Amino acid sequence: MKHLLKLMDLSRDEIIGILDLADQLKYERKNNIPHKHLEGKSIGLIFQKSSTRTRVSFETGVYQLGGQPLFLSSRDLQIGRGEPVQDTARVLSRYLDGIMIRTYEQKEVEDLAKYGSIPIINGLTDFCHPCQVLADLMTIREHYAKLEGLKLAYIGDGNNMTNSLIVGCLKTGMKISVACPEGYRPDPVVLEFAKGNADFELTDDPKQAVKGADVVYTDTWASMGQEDEKEARIKAFAGYQVNAELMKLANVGAMVQHCLPAYRGQEITEEVFEAHADELFEEAENRLHAQKAVMVTLMK
Ligand code: CP
Ligand code: NVA
Repeated sequence: MKHLLKLMDLSRDEIIGILDLADQLKYERKNNIPHKHLEGKSIGLIFQKSSTRTRVSFETGVYQLGGQPLFLSSRDLQIGRGEPVQDTARVLSRYLDGIMIRTYEQKEVEDLAKYGSIPIINGLTDFCHPCQVLADLMTIREHYAKLEGLKLAYIGDGNNMTNSLIVGCLKTGMKISVACPEGYRPDPVVLEFAKGNADFELTDDPKQAVKGADVVYTDTWASMGQEDEKEARIKAFAGYQVNAELMKLANVGAMVQHCLPAYRGQEITEEVFEAHADELFEEAENRLHAQKAVMVTLMK
């Protein structure tokens, strides 16, 4: 494994290896056992979109691993003024030991890896969010002590989260049922990946999706870059809210997950959010541990 560009590139064993290392790093952190695997290394963190969790968990994660994090806003980089990614990649490869990038186009991330010579980590694109799903799988495994055979139901927009969840669940032996309205389905490349897999279901009925679910997942109806579509999307997703009534149809004790930020009263009710707050914030915490595991795997 040279990069983390999308989960589709990883084998089941590579994913499980990251989750095992993440558990170990979490244990070490809780017990104040130092793990400075990135001593002397500099990691660039490029952001073309806003972030709370990704930025802070990567910055503190690099620090805890003994390395130097560099927050690089595209507003300040020449990339924001049109310097080609091919040139940025070749320049930054000469200073840094690794790059995490959050941007719009998946191609930009793939190009950084293609033209640069250091490990690249995808910190969210319009296509996928692999770091988030590694943290999600880690959290599910902590809760149920397994992944294989569990069912995750995803309700709402077929977006970057959905794309990564489908791949992450299917690669680790989980079942996934996705409920989204027509016109808001996951990416065709991901649907092709999942095609014919008995563990995958695509429906427009949230009630059908949550039947027998061990985990109910949702995300915002309007992702970053879709702010102008907000009103139309609120209409399109009526009926796709994770609320107490829908949760009654999932398995008793089912977990609720959300990558955050959450919009209460839209994709999730305040009631369900607060009833599952412990799980949701453990999921957010696990971003730190999972990403440290990714960096150690790629950059040690
Ligand atoms: N879930 C997530 O990636 O959050 P941020 O946008 O705050 O980084
Ligand atoms: N789908 C959301 C995820 C944010 C972490 C977005 O892309 O804005």
